[in-house]
Amino acid sequence: MQVWKDYQVTHKDRFLEELLELLRIPSVSADSSFSPDVKACAEAVKLRLQEAGAEKVEICPTAGHPIVYGEKIIDPALPTVLVYGHYDVQPADPLELWHSGPFEPVIKDEKIYARGSADDKGQFYMHVKAFETMSKTNTLPCNIKFMIEGEEEVGSANLGIFIKENKERLKADVVLISDTAMLSLENPSLDTGLRGLSYMEVEVTGPNRDLHSGVYGGAVANPATILCKMIASMHDENNHITIPGFYDKVQELTKEERAALNAAPFDEAEYKADLGVDELWGEKGYTTIERTGIRPTLEVNGIWGGYTGEGSKTVLPSKASAKISMRLVPNQDWKEISAMFQAHFEKIAPKSVKVKVTTHHGGSPYVTPTDHVAFKAASEAIRSTFGKGPIPMRGGGSIPIVALFEKELGLKTILMGFGLDSDNLHSPNEKYGLANFYKGIETIPYFHKYFAEMSK
Ligand code: BES
Ligand code: MN
Ligand code: MN
Repeated sequence: MQVWKDYQVTHKDRFLEELLELLRIPSVSADSSFSPDVKACAEAVKLRLQEAGAEKVEICPTAGHPIVYGEKIIDPALPTVLVYGHYDVQPADPLELWHSGPFEPVIKDEKIYARGSADDKGQFYMHVKAFETMSKTNTLPCNIKFMIEGEEEVGSANLGIFIKENKERLKADVVLISDTAMLSLENPSLDTGLRGLSYMEVEVTGPNRDLHSGVYGGAVANPATILCKMIASMHDENNHITIPGFYDKVQELTKEERAALNAAPFDEAEYKADLGVDELWGEKGYTTIERTGIRPTLEVNGIWGGYTGEGSKTVLPSKASAKISMRLVPNQDWKEISAMFQAHFEKIAPKSVKVKVTTHHGGSPYVTPTDHVAFKAASEAIRSTFGKGPIPMRGGGSIPIVALFEKELGLKTILMGFGLDSDNLHSPNEKYGLANFYKGIETIPYFHKYFAEMSK
């Protein structure tokens, strides 16, 4: 639509300036020393929503970080889209690997470099600017509600409570989220699912104190060695996970579904070159696309124990620990999987050590119904601005609240992400393409337009 185009061309530079301002706020949810910044970020989001034309904008406190809510109801008879996003970000460390400050955004090679640029500030902000475009040009085709939270990167536990307590306020027809990736701007895709997650921590304890590794080494089990052996045993020679029962509920795709998934343009050589690896790794019998979308995995996120400081210290540590997560697929249940993991880890522990297993958080996998009108609206929106329809893909990451939107609010979710897998999410030098940002702002209004039209 020409009015949208004109409006966006006029305000292009301001849209970007405002995003950069948001990116300068270090809203790291995991680290309590950043709590004032998280709060400041919520205030900034509130202000921007108000300026864009939202009403009843409110910072909703929770037991953790606040949720920002706002809405614009133009006609209760029209459909309502609930836009979800998150203004919190992952910790920026290791800081020394950043080429510029994680919270001092710079634009290089047409990309915005900053923590949160793609995940998710740059993406949810497209919705704020798309909404502004429609509201300021009096062309809103439907009602919009915004719910932007501050704890996605730490599991969304308080948002789960909030949605249970605010069912009336959150009434809508569909949830729309931009917090995933596309294949590329040339080959747009739409994620049709997300994996679930089960996040565990294990601690292995050997002797009751750190010991001289010469005096006691050879006589006492080293918990670091034992932990490594236990972790290594959780994949077999085909890289299948060895926890009994782990695959019992995994939904296998039909031959046709697998063929459709693998038809997506994917360049393995480019993928390897981007990551600097000579060979890929994964579960035997499945392609890379399958291993990162429709198959469950088990990963060590961190491992520690003993002396890791400068120089050397000869010590047999008393304890060693690891943070281990599992990505889950339909129909795995994260609570069941967590319990299975715990039972297995306790069972394989030798008598020479004691183990403690704790569950951090989890979430269910999700699959988008591709026959839903909102999925069709998203496909048409992409067709309008990219010149071709999207390829359906499965996202490998997790947004645990999405399954709860369905369970608690009865709402389906559309995952219309504009990022790229190579945006360095959760890594140093996170980036988001300027073209992706502007393409998103251009595409989103069409989603609302088509969704309103198709819902009639
Ligand atoms: N935006 C990501 C999820 C994502 C990224 C989905 C790319 C699909 C493709 C989200 O912010 C995220 O990082 N989620 C966490 C889970 C959370 C419980 C910490 C994840 O996937 O590790
Ligand atoms: Mn995210
Ligand atoms: Mn994330």
